[in-house]
Amino acid sequence: MSFDPVAIRRDFPIFERKIRDGKRLVYLDSGATSQKPQVVIDAELDFYRLHNAAAHRGAHQLAEEATDIYEGAREAVARFIGAEVDEVVFTKGATESLNLVAYAMGNAPLGSRFHLEKGDVIVVTEMEHHANLIPWQQLAARTGATLKWFEVTPEGRLDLSSINSIIDEHVKVVALTHQSNVLGTIVPLTEIVNRAHSVGAVVVLDACQSVPHMKVDVKALDIDFLAFSGHKILGPTGVGIFWGKSELLAELPPFLTGGSMIESVTMESATWAPAPRKFEAGVPNMAQAAGLGAAIKYIESIGIDEIHRHEISLTGYLLEKLNEVPRLKVIGPMDTVDRGAAVSFTFGDIHPHDLGQYLDSQGIAVRTGHHCAWPLNRKMGVQSTTRASLYLYNTFEDCDDLIAGIHGAAKYFGA
Ligand SMILES: Cc1ncc(COP(=O)(O)O)c(C=O)c1O
Repeated sequence: MSFDPVAIRRDFPIFERKIRDGKRLVYLDSGATSQKPQVVIDAELDFYRLHNAAAHRGAHQLAEEATDIYEGAREAVARFIGAEVDEVVFTKGATESLNLVAYAMGNAPLGSRFHLEKGDVIVVTEMEHHANLIPWQQLAARTGATLKWFEVTPEGRLDLSSINSIIDEHVKVVALTHQSNVLGTIVPLTEIVNRAHSVGAVVVLDACQSVPHMKVDVKALDIDFLAFSGHKILGPTGVGIFWGKSELLAELPPFLTGGSMIESVTMESATWAPAPRKFEAGVPNMAQAAGLGAAIKYIESIGIDEIHRHEISLTGYLLEKLNEVPRLKVIGPMDTVDRGAAVSFTFGDIHPHDLGQYLDSQGIAVRTGHHCAWPLNRKMGVQSTTRASLYLYNTFEDCDDLIAGIHGAAKYFGA
C-alpha cells in the first residue's frame, strides 16, 4: 500500500477539529511535540480503565497485567531501535535521560571508566538543544572536567576539520545530537563514533529528533548511550527512553535511588538490581509506557522508512518553496542531504513571534523563538527563528498553506 498521509490523518482525532474560527489545523510543530493517534490515546486510557495497578509489585491479576503491559512496551522499544530488552530504561523524557547519564557519570568512583576529574574532557557540539548541553556543563563544573565542542559552519553543518584535536585522549564522553532541532542537520556519526572509541570515550546520542523520523539502530550506529522522548514519536508526555550498551549500564552508577531499583537493603547500605531496574526507581510511568508501546507499533505498521521518505519529499518541496519567497532566509542546509524535516527561517524584518501569531490566525501552528538552543542561534547570527517541523501526517497542502500564510503576513505587516 502506498504511503497516504490523508488516510493517516484520519487516525489522529485532533485533525477533526477546527481552530481559529473554523480553519483547518495545519500542524507544523511536531519538532516540539507530535500529535497522537487514537490507538495511543486508547492504550493509555485502557491502562487506567482496565489494568491499573503497580507493575512489578502486588500479587494479583491487575499487577500482573500492568507488568505485562509495561514490559511489553519495553520490548517494542527494544525491537524498534535494535536493542536488547534489558538495555531499555524508561524515564520521563529525553531531558531526564540525558540528566540521568550525566549525573550517573558524576557519581562514578575513581577507577571507573565514567569517573571524571580535572584534566578530563567532555565534548559536545554547538548545535545542542539545552537538554544536551546544560547537564554536561553542570557535570564539568562538578568534576573539574573541561567542556569542548564542535563548531557549526555557516551552512549549518558540523565542522569536523579539527576532530583529532577536539577528541583527543583526554576525552571521556562525546555527547551530541543526531539531528538538530533547529537546523534539521543530521550529523555524520560514523567519523565521530570511530574517533571517540579510538580514544576510549563513550558516545551519548540525543536522538530526540531522529528516532521518530528515521531508522535508528543502536547496534549499527555503535553508539554507547541514547536518549529520546515518547511525546515526539506519537506517544504520551511523561515517558522517555534511556538506552545503553548492557556492559556499560552494568558499570554506570544509578541516578535516582529508592524503591524497585535495589537488590538488597540494610539500615546502612544497599546494592543495586541489574539494569534496567537499577535506573527505574519508584512506581513506573506504566500508562505512559503503554502509550509509547502503542505509538511504536503504530509506526511499525506504517513503516519508519516510508515515513522518512515522505518527510524527505515534503522537506525538499518546502525548501524549494521557501527559497522562492523574497527576504526569507532558511537557517540550515538548503537541500535534503543528511537533513531532516525541521526547517527554521527568518523573514525580513518581521519578528518570528509576529509571524507566528499571524500564521496562527490562519490555522497554521509553527514554533517561534530560540528553540532551546541559544548558543546555536548566536552562532547562526539570529536571535530567534520561525520553525516548521513536519511529520508523517503532514501534506504538500500543509506546505502550500504555510507559504500562503507567509505571503499573507508580508502583506499584513506591510513588509
Ligand atoms: C534535540 C532535542 N533534544 C532534547 C529535547 C528535550 O526533550 P524533552 O523536552 O521531551 O525532554 C528536545 C526537545 O525539543 C530536542 O529537540
